[in-house]
Amino acid sequence: MTFFLIDNDMTKISPPSIIALDGPAASGKSTLGNKLANSLGYLFFDTGIMYRAITWIALQHDMDLRNEVMITELAQKAQIDIRPPSKNDGRPCDVLIGDKDVTWDMRGGDVDANVSVVSAYAGVRKALSEQQRRIGLRGKVVMVGRDIGTVVLPEADLKVYLDASAEERARRRYDELIARGEKSNYEEILKKVIERDRIDSTRAVAPLRPADDAIIIDSDQMDAEQVFVRVLELCK
Ligand code: DC
Repeated sequence: MTFFLIDNDMTKISPPSIIALDGPAASGKSTLGNKLANSLGYLFFDTGIMYRAITWIALQHDMDLRNEVMITELAQKAQIDIRPPSKNDGRPCDVLIGDKDVTWDMRGGDVDANVSVVSAYAGVRKALSEQQRRIGLRGKVVMVGRDIGTVVLPEADLKVYLDASAEERARRRYDELIARGEKSNYEEILKKVIERDRIDSTRAVAPLRPADDAIIIDSDQMDAEQVFVRVLELCK
């Protein structure tokens, strides 16, 4: 006779340890990832910050962004530090380059317009994704990006690909900038979102695409809370 031991105690099922959250620009990944990490007690790691930091440093030093060799060297040497938020101004974390707090500088229009070029360089991606993978493999992490489920952590326990139309994403980014008191133009933002999508999804190395085993969520008709509840259900 065979006996089956069935454990009905759901509290013993632990949530996935490595959660990969990918999707296009402004699809709400950071908001979702931050909330999810807080509720699970996990590390929130937005990998886009690293590509932004390299772009920001290059712009500050008037470097030629088309010079792949120079930008790659910069990515290999740069000391980027991510720390828990020191201010209550909506930031999910502090981003420091040396001693300088650059958290909001990296969300500026200049960085937005140039970061896709920098993140398309193979050497830059190699340098940064190695660091991301090392941190992610420690587990208990929600890692947000474009290629986490496909390249950085293909062994992730849960992969979510968060999508939304370009128009909806541009509207969200516009609202965000206005809320921060910055001047903003919807049409301009939409143009940039479409251009970044094009570069991110057609680049030769690690293009933006859902992993085969990712769960795709279209958030056009959902608010941030509904998306959060849906992903929390997936975790359980
Ligand atoms: O998510 P974000 O807008 O902060 O990302 C900034 C840029 O970095 C964006 O153009 C895509 C790129 N990126 C990437 O190529 N791979 C990642 N894992 C994260 C971001």
